[in-house]
Amino acid sequence: MSFNTFGHLFRFTSFGESHGAAIGCVVDGCPPRIPLTAVDIQGYLDKRRPGQSRFTTQRQEPDAVKIMSGVFTDEASGEQVTTGTPIMLMIENVDQRSKDYSAIKDKYRPGHAGYTYDVKYGIHDYRGGGRASARETAARVAAGAIARKIVPGMTVRGALIQMGPHKIDRARWDWNEVDKNPFFCPDAQQAKFFESYLDGVRKAGSSCGAVIEVVADGVPAGLGAPVYAKLDADLASALIGINAVKGVEIGDGFATAAMSGEENADEMRMGNERKPRFLSNHAGGILGGISTGQQIVARFAVKPTSSILTPRKTVDRYGNETEVMTKGRHDPCVGIRAVPIGEAMVACVLADHYLRHRAQVGEGTAWPFQKPGA
Ligand SMILES: Cc1cc2nc3c(=O)[nH]c(=O)nc-3n(C[C@H](O)[C@H](O)[C@H](O)COP(=O)(O)O)c2cc1C
Repeated sequence: MSFNTFGHLFRFTSFGESHGAAIGCVVDGCPPRIPLTAVDIQGYLDKRRPGQSRFTTQRQEPDAVKIMSGVFTDEASGEQVTTGTPIMLMIENVDQRSKDYSAIKDKYRPGHAGYTYDVKYGIHDYRGGGRASARETAARVAAGAIARKIVPGMTVRGALIQMGPHKIDRARWDWNEVDKNPFFCPDAQQAKFFESYLDGVRKAGSSCGAVIEVVADGVPAGLGAPVYAKLDADLASALIGINAVKGVEIGDGFATAAMSGEENADEMRMGNERKPRFLSNHAGGILGGISTGQQIVARFAVKPTSSILTPRKTVDRYGNETEVMTKGRHDPCVGIRAVPIGEAMVACVLADHYLRHRAQVGEGTAWPFQKPGA
């Protein structure tokens, strides 16, 4: 299976399966002398970790990351820093329950990847979804923790803004609430409602989808490489590549289709420090595939978990019609744990483009330009 590598100058290659010995990644292209310890990575992994509330899978994985290479103590500061060589990150799998899957090993779960893996490779590790399992996304979150350190002054935050058909009230958006409820929801009132809603979904043995918004602040203007590596195209690709993601929007996304040109235009005025000030951000901080210096805003839709307790019609790998029902431990709404994964993918794309921008144009241009003859 090829194509396990993400990115160009900041790139990582992930490895591992859900019920294998370990998962992880090798990060290549990280600049040298960036302070890095396992603690810097662990906090983000802890956000994605399963088994933290009754609303996520009860698989108990500590997701303890080990840095196996690529760091050394800087004599001058005494700090552990990157050396510029490949950084291998390893996370052991400790709570596999493979027998949960033996009853359905030959049956395809509708909405899961068993059929397509089999039809392509003729073999697949059915235990916990194997390589198609979102266990792999722990590697992305670990790589994302390093990516966050590469763009100076950048912060990337995500929030769950819709669960099933129920949206948050954006007027109540408070970033401080995101880490105070089990859903990474910025609307405290709606988070309370999500508890009872998801309890109902879970007790019915069903599942539901979600929408997640990721916002990056402090991204310099100029990132993105037209025409085949536009920043918005790379963000969309990175986000839709997350397990169970079925839709991506940048800025106002699909809503722009219903706007007039006047409504959609992000008008410009001169602001402080000889930088332009945009009067709105319908574009989500990207024009022509290049960052404007505004907030980068992306949203993605996550489908309902395919593993449900209700029997569904399917076929097995030998061509027989049958039914399948998935026991075992599953997230009733995988969108919750997708929040830190979305943040990580956005951070990886921005770090990669930051390094590519620096490689091509160095410090960039001195905008605004001097009028010739002035
Ligand atoms: C954080 C997270 C956890 C997931 N956990 C499960 C799960 O417990 N059961 C399941 O059927 N799918 C789960 N998925 C989704 C599957 O990995 C995904 O649907 C499957 O690989 C098929 O790929 P696709 O939906 O992207 O086409 C999870 C996804 C994410 C993002």
